[in-house]
Amino acid sequence: MAVMKRQVLVLAVAMAFAGFIGCVVSYDRPPAGHQISTPQPKDLPSTSPQQVHISAVGPDKMRISWITESFAPALVEYGTSPNNYTNSVTGTSSSYSFLLYISGQINDVVIGPLNPNSVYYYRCSSDSSREFSFKTPPAQLPITFAVVGDLGQTDWTQSTLQHIGQSNYDMLLLPGDLSYADLFQRRWDSFGRLVEPLASQRPWMVTQGNHEIEKIPLVHKTPFTAYNARWCMPFEESGSTSNLYYSFDAAGVHVIMLGSYTDFGPNSDQFKWLQADLGKIDRGKTPWIFAIVHAPWYNTNTAHQGEPEADLMKQYMEELLYKARVDIVFAGHVHAYERFTRVYDGKADNCGPIYITIGDGGNREGLANMYMDPKPEISVFREASFGHAQLEVVNASHAVWMWHRNDDKFSVASDTVWFTSLLSDPACKP
Ligand SMILES: *[C@@H]1O[C@H](CO)[C@@H](O)[C@H](O)[C@H]1NC(C)=O
Ligand SMILES: *[C@@H]1O[C@H](CO)[C@@H](O)[C@H](O)[C@H]1NC(C)=O
Ligand SMILES: [Fe+2]
Repeated sequence: MAVMKRQVLVLAVAMAFAGFIGCVVSYDRPPAGHQISTPQPKDLPSTSPQQVHISAVGPDKMRISWITESFAPALVEYGTSPNNYTNSVTGTSSSYSFLLYISGQINDVVIGPLNPNSVYYYRCSSDSSREFSFKTPPAQLPITFAVVGDLGQTDWTQSTLQHIGQSNYDMLLLPGDLSYADLFQRRWDSFGRLVEPLASQRPWMVTQGNHEIEKIPLVHKTPFTAYNARWCMPFEESGSTSNLYYSFDAAGVHVIMLGSYTDFGPNSDQFKWLQADLGKIDRGKTPWIFAIVHAPWYNTNTAHQGEPEADLMKQYMEELLYKARVDIVFAGHVHAYERFTRVYDGKADNCGPIYITIGDGGNREGLANMYMDPKPEISVFREASFGHAQLEVVNASHAVWMWHRNDDKFSVASDTVWFTSLLSDPACKP
């Protein structure tokens, strides 16, 4: 009898819960995905390149990053037709250790100058069995970005990557939480192999999330060891002294990558660097400005409320971004999608940035599906589903944003909206 009562109670609670969720969104949400691992192919020689990914460096160069299990030259050969390498550059190698794990040889080579909007073929470490190719971003608008955060390595990640792969994007922006290795360094290797088919073909520009910190008290005190070693970004080119924050121009967009998990207070290097960087922007050259953080400054999900990485950073930096007329602020961290109207200081403001949370890549922790009720007016669209977004910046005044929900099976845009730049609004002149 007691057992039955308990079952009835559990059932009632479950039904009440399902009912509550059911009135927030109208379809069945997918469960957290199964973890997948991407092993090294058995016949791959230890000197063969793996985990190849590329990132843009300055207006006309590309950094090629890859790992070899054992020693191999940090050499990239490249050219504009397959198997015909007219140029070669030697770069640098490094490795790191983490507890008992010792990484392979991590190679970074910056190649260029390259022509915009052009396909290049390349090979790494003189390995003729693996030829790669990439397309450089255009020098002028239009440009298309893929945007996705909190990727992880699940079957949802796989379907997100598949949808991104089917699109015709020029550059990927990732607002943190990449591999969810969470101290298990081999998961970083697995992640590198998982994303290689896409990340070796288009520049992947990333910033770090909390899952990149990987610190263990007393035993491994240095944060971001694997992230910094494996995902070197072009920070020096923007006058930054840290791989954790940097900026770059892509066609007509100035992109600012911020670090939510390093110092951001008014006396910090990051704060001073941001001030200087915002002061240098030439709106004639880059009519659009995007900023990217990990922990969202605006968020009506019940997940990740009250975290200093969001609230304090917003308190310190929001005015800087507002005064500089930053158009869009992207964030991850919350495993869902949410788009705000233009906001400043908690209120709708026509000259404030649009805030977008896109932490829906597909990680193993599952979705964040509880929202504040009623919905605050500044939140325009919110939904706990896995997916990614495409942002086509058409010209100096117009861009089209398309959020794609994975569980539609086919990649269809579920939230499509036109944005106009703040530069094109006479009331918001910087
Ligand atoms: C290799 O590329 C160069 C420069 O583009 C070209 O002149 C040459 O004919 C190509 N060689 C072959 C064998 O295609
Ligand atoms: C920018 O693109 C939008 C959307 O395609 C178009 O309506 C507008 O006329 C374009 N502006 C200019 C200056 O070309
Ligand atoms: Fe996170």
